[in-house]
Amino acid sequence: MAYLLNRWYAAAWSGEVAREPFMRVLFDKPVLFYRTESGDVTALSNVCPHRFAPLNRGKLFGDAIRCPYHGLRFGPDGRCVQNPIGKGLLPAKAQLTRYATIEAHGVIWIWHGPAPADATKLVPFDFLDEHDRYDFVDGYIAIDANYALVSDNLLDLSHAEFLHPNLSNPGANQRVRFTAQTDGETVRALNARPGEPPTVLLRAALGDGVGDTIDMWSNVTWNPPALLCVEVGGTARGAPKEAGVNTMAAHLITPETAVRSHYFWKLGRTYRRGDPDFSARVQAMVSSAFVEEDKPIIEAQQHNMGDVGFEQLDPVYLESDGAAARARRIMNRLLAENAADALIAPV
Ligand code: FES
Ligand SMILES: [Fe+2]
Repeated sequence: MAYLLNRWYAAAWSGEVAREPFMRVLFDKPVLFYRTESGDVTALSNVCPHRFAPLNRGKLFGDAIRCPYHGLRFGPDGRCVQNPIGKGLLPAKAQLTRYATIEAHGVIWIWHGPAPADATKLVPFDFLDEHDRYDFVDGYIAIDANYALVSDNLLDLSHAEFLHPNLSNPGANQRVRFTAQTDGETVRALNARPGEPPTVLLRAALGDGVGDTIDMWSNVTWNPPALLCVEVGGTARGAPKEAGVNTMAAHLITPETAVRSHYFWKLGRTYRRGDPDFSARVQAMVSSAFVEEDKPIIEAQQHNMGDVGFEQLDPVYLESDGAAARARRIMNRLLAENAADALIAPV
């Protein structure tokens, strides 16, 4: 499958990669991750060039990984540094593909594409570093569906009324004001919800004294290929936004294959901070919505779609689809440009 080239993708949470070899399939290929003795992240092809054994089953010696099968050792630059067989010659072909990585915002990002890695192309998620402002919970979900279906899900939050009754209110979609905006490659879905009964979490955040209705918002920012920020909050009816409470969530989706995705999410809240029991409750509620409600419907969607392209299926468009449609249009344009890049240097 053609993935968007020359971009940074979320490969792992920082805490997932340590001295123990760790493997994750990204863009149809198994990638080996480990930290060197100085703590730097190494990302290499997980396929030994001798007989194609998986290197993550091997062992680290200093900064070099030893293949579990016949013992070739490879350094963090991918070059073979030791051959324990016979005279120990180092064949020129004994070389692993090395991937560029950046560690930022508690995420290990991997560069996918033939162009030299460009740190300026990293999509910023600065709020993930604002520990004095937010208390965070996070999770990882493997989804058996194309990554764009997850973007669609997040860019069209009208589904909450039907799929997440705990996070929405009956009839909410008749009251919401949908606005879609495009700014360069960035798409925003702004959903203003004035005069809405508070959801369970927002009532817990604002307290019972806030009244029967509040002003709510749920705003989504999307950057290609599937890097999203979802902001949900509320304030007393007519009060300024700053007087209310807010959550900011990063949703980082990375293709494993055309029909399987890695979904990293991390949500920060400005309210009831320093309360681990409340954090556990938020974690359980959010995680259950994603795992028990979003994941099954997205996977069933993919199953129904099979391998037929989204546009070929001629989908119906609703008022809430503006932002997702804009994102799909941008992706189609970028993927078309991508095709030229792939011809120059196949990945
Ligand atoms: S398969 Fe790795 S050394 Fe033989
Ligand atoms: Fe959802």
